[in-house]
Amino acid sequence: MKTILSFMGEDHDRLDSIFKDFKNENLDKNKAKGLFHEFKTGLQRHIVWEEEILFPLFEDKTGMHDTGPTAVMRTEHKKIKDFLEKIHISLANDDIHTSDLENELIAVLTEHNNKEENILYPWIDNSVSEKEKEEAFAEMKNLSPEKYNKCCE
Ligand SMILES: [Fe+2]
Ligand SMILES: [Fe+2]
Repeated sequence: MKTILSFMGEDHDRLDSIFKDFKNENLDKNKAKGLFHEFKTGLQRHIVWEEEILFPLFEDKTGMHDTGPTAVMRTEHKKIKDFLEKIHISLANDDIHTSDLENELIAVLTEHNNKEENILYPWIDNSVSEKEKEEAFAEMKNLSPEKYNKCCE
């Protein structure tokens, strides 16, 4: 039986590797835009999985709604999404020199992902039943793309 930690940790790694490819300075503009699009929509999907499926499951189980780890993670998601939009706007304007924004995003994201992998995901794994996990994975798989695919064309 796969765990939330292994499944979501692998998705963090997958997204990290797309971002690393995007940072390759030798890419032409269109290739860079394509990789950023893949990263942005993938990370948006990941955040919707958390905010709409996994965090509510945890919050219902523990009674920790407005205080607790998921409230902190939701605040950090806002910062992360804000960086995604800023980089997206720069790229849409053909400005691919977004290194400062990229570095800030990676700093926030790395710390965020570490907290999820070290504390939150294991906590969710320990709080929910196998059946609830299965249902959550099924719901994640069936998530409508309209919920996360907003990005440049
Ligand atoms: Fe997150
Ligand atoms: Fe995450």
